[in-house]
Amino acid sequence: MNLIDGMLARRTTNGPFRPDPVSHDHQHLLMRVAQAAPSHFNSQPWRFVLIEDPQTIAQVAALAGQSMTELIEAGVFFERYRRYFRFSEVEMQTRRDGIHIDHLPGPLRPFTRQVFSDAGLKLMRQLGVPKKLGEDNRKLVAGSPLLLAALLDRGEYRPGELSGFYSVFGLGAAVENVWNAVGELGMGIQFVSTPMEIPRHWQALGELLRVPDDLELMAVYRLGYLPQEQARPSIDWSSRHRKRLDQFVYRDTCAQPEQETAAP
Ligand SMILES: Cc1cc2nc3c(=O)[nH]c(=O)nc-3n(C[C@H](O)[C@H](O)[C@H](O)COP(=O)(O)O)c2cc1C
Repeated sequence: MNLIDGMLARRTTNGPFRPDPVSHDHQHLLMRVAQAAPSHFNSQPWRFVLIEDPQTIAQVAALAGQSMTELIEAGVFFERYRRYFRFSEVEMQTRRDGIHIDHLPGPLRPFTRQVFSDAGLKLMRQLGVPKKLGEDNRKLVAGSPLLLAALLDRGEYRPGELSGFYSVFGLGAAVENVWNAVGELGMGIQFVSTPMEIPRHWQALGELLRVPDDLELMAVYRLGYLPQEQARPSIDWSSRHRKRLDQFVYRDTCAQPEQETAAP
């Protein structure tokens, strides 16, 4: 696969990985592509923890599952993120961003449009959806052979200052390099973001990884080799839809949206 094809094919892996350990050669290759990213003044503000100890993975998985259950149970998740959810093909085709909710767990399907209402939330609680989604999430993380924690040097990561912005930008570039490279190795990657939504779980995760005072834990990912068959999860949180050129690119000034030269 050439670089551009690989980047265009990049995607989030929502399903399980094969249980096989990720070879240390592959792990180190991913770290080398990460550090090939640009950074302000070549500061290389990123740090990474490669986690393959089964006990640590199980503890991260428990935190992720618990966080997911709490977020759904309390309605926080839907409250915080409802603006990203699309409920029809027409809405999706018009906006071409966000997540298309076209794949809810069976019992919820008749209530697709109500999942964000109080009544929908009540129904989800009655059907045990928060626990089910939490357990799905826990299993996905627990079954991953490798977790990757991304951190920033707090000497650089100073929120409110330009170096804080630059260092987040650099870390994003480093992680994107990893994200692009995994496909070439027959691997997948997924953000494990639920623990960072709940401060006490995020703190517990930092303690588990023994993050020192001079580093800031920024994100956690799960990685592994992809199985042949990939089924969609109970709720598919990822989306392949992308905006048209005239929805996100301008020519010369922001007053002139860019036009397609050929059909996308
Ligand atoms: C900052 C950030 C946070 C994300 N959080 C999650 C997440 O918690 N769970 C998940 O499955 N995907 C997460 N994603 C992946 C997006 O959902 C995904 O990139 C988007 O839906 C497009 O799908 P694709 O990556 O397959 O192209 C995150 C991506 C970014 C950049």
